Amino acid sequence: MKITFVDGKSIEITKNETLYEAFLRTGIYLSASCGGAGTCGKCKVRIIEGKYECKNYGKLSYKDIEKGIVLACQTYALSNLKVEILKESKLTIGDKIALSYTKKLKELFLSYNVKISPLIEKLNVELPQPTIDDNISDLQRLNRYLEEKDLKFMFQRKFLKNLSDDLRKNNWQFNLCWQKDNMEALYIEPLNSKKDYGIAIDIGTTTIVVYLVDLSNIQVIDVGSTYNSQIRYGDDVITRIIYATENGKLKDLRYAVVSDINDILDNMFRRIKIEPSAVTSAVISGNTTMTHLFWELNPAYIREEPYIPTANIFPIWKASEAGLHIHPEAPVYTIPCVASYVGGDIVSGVIATKIHRKPEISLFIDIGTNGEIVIGNNELLVTAACSAGPCFEGGGIKCGMRAIEGAIELIEIIPETFEPKLKVIGNTNPIGICGSGMISAVSEMFLKGVIDQKGKIIKNSNSNYIKEAEEGLEYLLFSSSDRDIVLTQVDIDNLIRAKGAIYAGISLLLKELGFTYEMIDKVYIAGGFGNYIDIKKAIIMGMLPDLPEDKFQFVGNTSVLGAYLCLLSEELRKEAEKVSSMMTYIELSIKSNYMDEFMSALFLPHTDTNQFPSVMSFLS
Ligand code: FES
Repeated sequence: MKITFVDGKSIEITKNETLYEAFLRTGIYLSASCGGAGTCGKCKVRIIEGKYECKNYGKLSYKDIEKGIVLACQTYALSNLKVEILKESKLTIGDKIALSYTKKLKELFLSYNVKISPLIEKLNVELPQPTIDDNISDLQRLNRYLEEKDLKFMFQRKFLKNLSDDLRKNNWQFNLCWQKDNMEALYIEPLNSKKDYGIAIDIGTTTIVVYLVDLSNIQVIDVGSTYNSQIRYGDDVITRIIYATENGKLKDLRYAVVSDINDILDNMFRRIKIEPSAVTSAVISGNTTMTHLFWELNPAYIREEPYIPTANIFPIWKASEAGLHIHPEAPVYTIPCVASYVGGDIVSGVIATKIHRKPEISLFIDIGTNGEIVIGNNELLVTAACSAGPCFEGGGIKCGMRAIEGAIELIEIIPETFEPKLKVIGNTNPIGICGSGMISAVSEMFLKGVIDQKGKIIKNSNSNYIKEAEEGLEYLLFSSSDRDIVLTQVDIDNLIRAKGAIYAGISLLLKELGFTYEMIDKVYIAGGFGNYIDIKKAIIMGMLPDLPEDKFQFVGNTSVLGAYLCLLSEELRKEAEKVSSMMTYIELSIKSNYMDEFMSALFLPHTDTNQFPSVMSFLS
């Protein structure tokens, strides 16, 4: 059977696969937050012609169903079909993501006062040519030279396989490239070899960022990014773990992320005109699940109590093993993780903000697909992961989407009519609402009286913007002949649960340490999405503590920053390992007082209004 799209293109589909599966197989990607479980309602398509069977209409409204809209993950073809993929269901993968990165990376590195020591060292070697009187083996000849320098290396079979030719080809004079941490001889290169480059990679659940670094002057010379195409298998780490383990598709997930990185690299190499083999080291930084998926390690037990990853600290493996398109012998260092839900990206965050080096108390929050928190200083560090869920990335929100063109990012509400004034990314008609828009919306709705302190929409027959829908009350953000963009009561409840989880996590960690909010000197907000948060609105909503705004600092993508720093310095790699082992991980879900903290944080801004004096002064 065949599916034909409105642009005339077509694909084959079998009777045993859903539309979503047929799309995946043929490289057509839809938003699929739940990974095809039928619960997120994001994979909507319209059947224009043909017979089909939709097993479950999930969250679709009657209006949608009447128009022939189905969930692609729940629908089977019974004949040839003509299908329209709705604009809001299309997944943008491979688009360039606007990157904000500081050009002052070199200054940042120098401020650590550490020696530049990449993962690879080079030794200039000159060997005497063999003669009939000096006829020891090639390896003995090399070892004799190394012993004179007080060096002892380990040699893999692969190195020896090429040794005799390499020595002669280079006329017995060459650079011996070796990996410092395990004293392994990696390869031989001619004396006049060109520059070496390194790559620092952040593997986020949603985005991937790569810095290409000239190791001779530690400058970042190119930056690339893309969406993590694992998104096609689900938005959050749990959905992907299920997909990888229950469907036996671990390889697919690994392939998706490695291909994304290689695509970025291939483009960079073309742009900068360098050979892939000139990249001789790499560092990856990601959460624990992303790290496991990158190395194809079984992530199954990360999600099962007592939540155990395969590893937190990883040996240095080779690029050829990772499948990266760089020098095959290049060592790939993995920023160590802390626990199943606090990974190398958070260790990178600590290194990049230097929390572990300062006596002042800092709070670090990474608000991404999940929410991780670190509190501490140079003496102690505690950390936790809040199960905020992916709603700030658009998951679990009826019209939620990522911060790309067409996303509502800011809302103001006219108090008399409740009419929303919208700011949309790209100044186009909106197609959904992104995380910063959601924070803006909830705080505005609260301030202007659209919702009450519990986040419940207040019925108001005088306003055209509060509507009774199939699933209850909803607030109308935008209306067109195609569709309405709304925030439903369920959406608002989800957002309040997410903000409550973050705030409760911070409160609990502070209590564990015997600290108060006033003791926090600095709050670092990390994560791509973090950059766009309006601090005031996030405080009004009760997501961030009510502290003076000058205590907050946006630090952007600290995961890739940490990878960059560790690419350049052995001391910082050691610091990363120390930080990962000194961090005390608190599993919030088993703390008896977590539920109380969480329940108290389910109000706007909080049950204990004394914790939000500035918000209360707005309201009075
Ligand atoms: Fe189809 Fe979520 S409902 S992917």
